[in-house]
Amino acid sequence: MSRLTGKVTYVTGAASGIGLACAQRFAAEGAVVIGADINTSDGWAAAVAAAPASAFHVLDVRDEAAQIEVARMIVADHGRIDAVVTAAGVAGGGFVHMMDLTEWQRVQDVNITGTFLTAKAVLPAMIEQRSGSIITIASVEGLEGCEGGSSYNASKGAVVLLTKNLACDYGRAGIRANSICPGFIDTPMFQSVMAGMASAPAIKEQHKLGRFGRADEIAGVAYFLASEDSSFVSGVALPVDGGYVAGHSYGLSQLMFG
Ligand SMILES: NC(=O)c1ccc[n+]([C@@H]2O[C@H](COP(=O)([O-])OP(=O)(O)OC[C@H]3O[C@@H](n4cnc5c(N)ncnc54)[C@H](O)[C@@H]3O)[C@@H](O)[C@H]2O)c1
Repeated sequence: MSRLTGKVTYVTGAASGIGLACAQRFAAEGAVVIGADINTSDGWAAAVAAAPASAFHVLDVRDEAAQIEVARMIVADHGRIDAVVTAAGVAGGGFVHMMDLTEWQRVQDVNITGTFLTAKAVLPAMIEQRSGSIITIASVEGLEGCEGGSSYNASKGAVVLLTKNLACDYGRAGIRANSICPGFIDTPMFQSVMAGMASAPAIKEQHKLGRFGRADEIAGVAYFLASEDSSFVSGVALPVDGGYVAGHSYGLSQLMFG
């Protein structure tokens, strides 16, 4: 029996990249997976083929009423929500003195308000059942600054602290909350951000393993956090980043090891 057999899991941003990889891993481990995304997904059916009771909803995470309705449907269909992954997100950033307020708000609305609304929607079921694992997808850019990060880093820093507060507020209700802070992971978002970016080799070098990450490497950690193997882990912002935030890289190890 797998660690997620019989568990009911919910993944936002499930049409693509990290969210889709989490859905695929959870389904492969025996969970029912309910996915939601503002876009439909070509890969969804194949990803959750191992979990026939799974479902996909078109949902904008900024829409509170829609969030509450999807959570209601999950409970109506399956009786509970054991784990949620908030992977819906958008890229952003730029120099502050050149940024429109509307662009700043677009990033905050999806990345932090969307995360807040997802947590708010699932919490009543988790409180009722006295258990649950909330897994937010933040970023290494929510742990430290970087050139041009601005709106994105601010939104992901907020996700990290919202998650720690969830851990503080709901631990006594048996609910755990943790952030995964990915490094740069090869997904459609990554492809669109990195296309033609002159600093891509320097960014890659900050990953001490000397490569970018894969979505399944984030899904593996989400699987751990959704499972009882992490039963005493709460309030953590866990870098999954090939060593990106371990320290600064000056190229010496490249001279030594290639
Ligand atoms: N790829 C990376 O390098 C990286 C690094 C750190 C953190 N992240 C974070 O991981 C998460 C997933 O990113 P990804 O790389 O898989 O990107 P992605 O673009 O492949 O997937 C993001 C998904 O979120 C969905 N989405 C966007 N706005 C939405 C909305 N308003 N409502 C519902 N769904 C919406 C998109 O349609 C898309 O399917 C994001 O929160 C991102 O910020 C990604």
